[in-house]
Amino acid sequence: MPSPDTPDGLPARHAALRILDAVLRKGLTVDAAAQGGRPLAPPDRALALAIAGETLRRLPDIDRLIDSATRLPLADDAKARMVLRLALGQKIGLATPDHALVATALPLVDGGPRRLVHGVLGTLLRRGIPVSDSPHLPATVEERWRAAWGQPVVEAARRAIAARPRLDLTFKVEAAAKAYPDAAPLADRHARLDHSSSVTALPGFDSGEWWVQDLAASLPARLIPRDANNVLDLCAAPGGKTMQLAAAGHQVTALDRSGSRLARLKANLDRTGLTAELITANALDWQSDRQFDGILLDAPCSATGTFRRHPEVLYRARPSIIAESAVVQGRLLDHAATLVAPGGAIVFATCSLEPEEGEEVVASFLKRQPGFAVALPEPGELPEFLAPTGEGFLRVLPGLLEAQGGLDGFFIARLVAPLD
Ligand SMILES: C[S@@+](CC[C@H](N)C(=O)[O-])C[C@H]1O[C@@H](n2cnc3c(N)ncnc32)[C@H](O)[C@@H]1O
Repeated sequence: MPSPDTPDGLPARHAALRILDAVLRKGLTVDAAAQGGRPLAPPDRALALAIAGETLRRLPDIDRLIDSATRLPLADDAKARMVLRLALGQKIGLATPDHALVATALPLVDGGPRRLVHGVLGTLLRRGIPVSDSPHLPATVEERWRAAWGQPVVEAARRAIAARPRLDLTFKVEAAAKAYPDAAPLADRHARLDHSSSVTALPGFDSGEWWVQDLAASLPARLIPRDANNVLDLCAAPGGKTMQLAAAGHQVTALDRSGSRLARLKANLDRTGLTAELITANALDWQSDRQFDGILLDAPCSATGTFRRHPEVLYRARPSIIAESAVVQGRLLDHAATLVAPGGAIVFATCSLEPEEGEEVVASFLKRQPGFAVALPEPGELPEFLAPTGEGFLRVLPGLLEAQGGLDGFFIARLVAPLD
């Protein structure tokens, strides 16, 4: 029982404050930040994640509101600003009633700037809090994406961060996808559902008919040539693409350097009844006496394309991190080139909206390895809504299929090795 002095939901707000602070000041992911601290009951944990997520989704607009109600701007990392951010995130994203906002915000600043928080919150609530369906992204991200993709893409990204992403399922077989109830198919072996809070309760979960995978994330594996026998999935865990490759009938070797993530991949294979050889190793130097007809390199990246579900990526992906990640991607691609059979295909992909982690990585690779050639999708390999760029790459940007719920941002290129 909560004590009479402790408003319900206070543990969740304490946890949300810890998560927001760890994400913004230490650069952690929301998931990693949520692992620290006192264990919470599942509903409190879910509420803490929802509050932190909604706050991060709208942080630049929330900060403008706070700044409009203080005489001097609060420091970016001031506790008062953090607590106000969370209260406004709840108001805008979760429609929490005003009395609950105040009752749960003030204890977070006990012994500190309680009057300030009370005053700012009261002023803003009296004024009325606008709820935008196209909130701003962080200014640095908007500048970067405007320069790379143009203003319409920035505006589509603003709308996308306010919308709740749909649930995409990838199926082992097309017949099960077609027959799935209340779903819209946008590609082969795919079904899109309105969001469901309990994935494990959906029909077909226990029998392993499908797995959750954003439609954009399902595109790279579709480009591994159908006649490729041995296929290497070089950065494989937790395994959405490994399962696609296995379901398509390839002999799959799935490698990842993270043992714990590979354990999740194994659990996913067990549930779906699919098979792959699993290897824990560093893809930068793993050697094999086999050569592979197809290699999928879903490289680690800033993951800025996943900003709809993980808004913190917009704060974590600083230019230095993007640059370091691009260097690793180039090295992974160079190593993949030593493992592919003559005439075999490497499909390189990143869930990033940064050209440095996509177009530029592949352009530099092609300069170092002029024998490799970009291979366009064959008819029927990819859904028709996606056309290759002039260079033969596939680039999924915010705004694509917006009316149907949009996709994560992705970059994909298929590179074919020389014959000798
Ligand atoms: C984008 S995720 C892969 C997602 C996966 N392909 C899927 O569809 O579920 C990148 C993966 O690369 C792994 N990774 C990062 N650096 C690596 C390296 N040097 N060698 C092997 N795996 C690596 C990470 O552990 C992570 O699981």
